[in-house]
Amino acid sequence: MHDPIADEVRRGLTAPAKSLPPHLFYDEEGSRLYEQITELEEYYPTRTERAILARHAPTMVALAASDSQEPLSVVELGAGSADKTRLILSALVATQQRAVYLPVDVSPSALEAARARIEAEIPGIEVRPFVGRHEAASEAISRLGPRRLVLFIGSSIGNFEDDAAVSLLRAVRRGLVPGDALLLGTDMKKSPARLLPAYDDARGVTAEFNKNILARINRELGGRFELERFKHVALWNAAASRVEMHLESRVDHSVRIDALGLDVSFRRGERIHTESSIKYETPRVDALLRRAGFEREQSFSDDARAFSVHLARAQAL
Ligand code: AVJ
Repeated sequence: MHDPIADEVRRGLTAPAKSLPPHLFYDEEGSRLYEQITELEEYYPTRTERAILARHAPTMVALAASDSQEPLSVVELGAGSADKTRLILSALVATQQRAVYLPVDVSPSALEAARARIEAEIPGIEVRPFVGRHEAASEAISRLGPRRLVLFIGSSIGNFEDDAAVSLLRAVRRGLVPGDALLLGTDMKKSPARLLPAYDDARGVTAEFNKNILARINRELGGRFELERFKHVALWNAAASRVEMHLESRVDHSVRIDALGLDVSFRRGERIHTESSIKYETPRVDALLRRAGFEREQSFSDDARAFSVHLARAQAL
């Protein structure tokens, strides 16, 4: 019996600067809490991106197809609830009647939900779920053809340091041919006064989401975390242009994790870094895309430029 999260939890909690990877947020409970976050008054990214897609999806799809007569297939990294994806897929079947949609996700249940929803709501879309990490999907992506549009929306890229973001985008690029398109959603840099409430909402949903990572360790690894002993902290790291979430110990104490045979000690005020959410400026986006073999062609934003969706083209390597 070896839980796949065991190694990551051990590594993160025994390091001199404690951290846990943000993908651990998303068990069933965490995914439910994240859906609640997306509906909070303070959390603007989801509804802003949805409005951008609702307004510009037909243009985005036309640009992605460019002057080719060949049908487009759609790949999506991180299926999520596939709610915003519907806007793109609907625009696509309006122009080419039928299309293959390949959602990539590590969660089979998320993929099944996406499949059921899309097939019920958008006739003409054939869903081919791919269970696995984004980097593993290159082959499946390359077998689609002849032209592809890859969706990496939701500002999920913001969780990755630049080097990691580039290697992920490069893995995607490997499955493409020059001329294929990428839609990349990025949350943009703005005042901390606007950013911080989005990660520290009045109702405490984000605090609960953050602490769920400890609750999950309790559930899956026999951890003995007492959640009241930790405080949710959201801060703006100006040097790195990112919002960070941490869990800060309120007291000196130690926590047993049975399945790891580990006791983790915390000093009062010591933090576990659980997430970084990078807030971009366009030149940084351009640099990432270029290093990965893409060129940005057009960006679509809301009037306040809070969020952007970039259409980029795969370049010859
Ligand atoms: C899913 C990574 C885009 O960074 O805003 C929301 C996750 N964390 N509230 C983000 C999140 C806290 C979200 N992403």
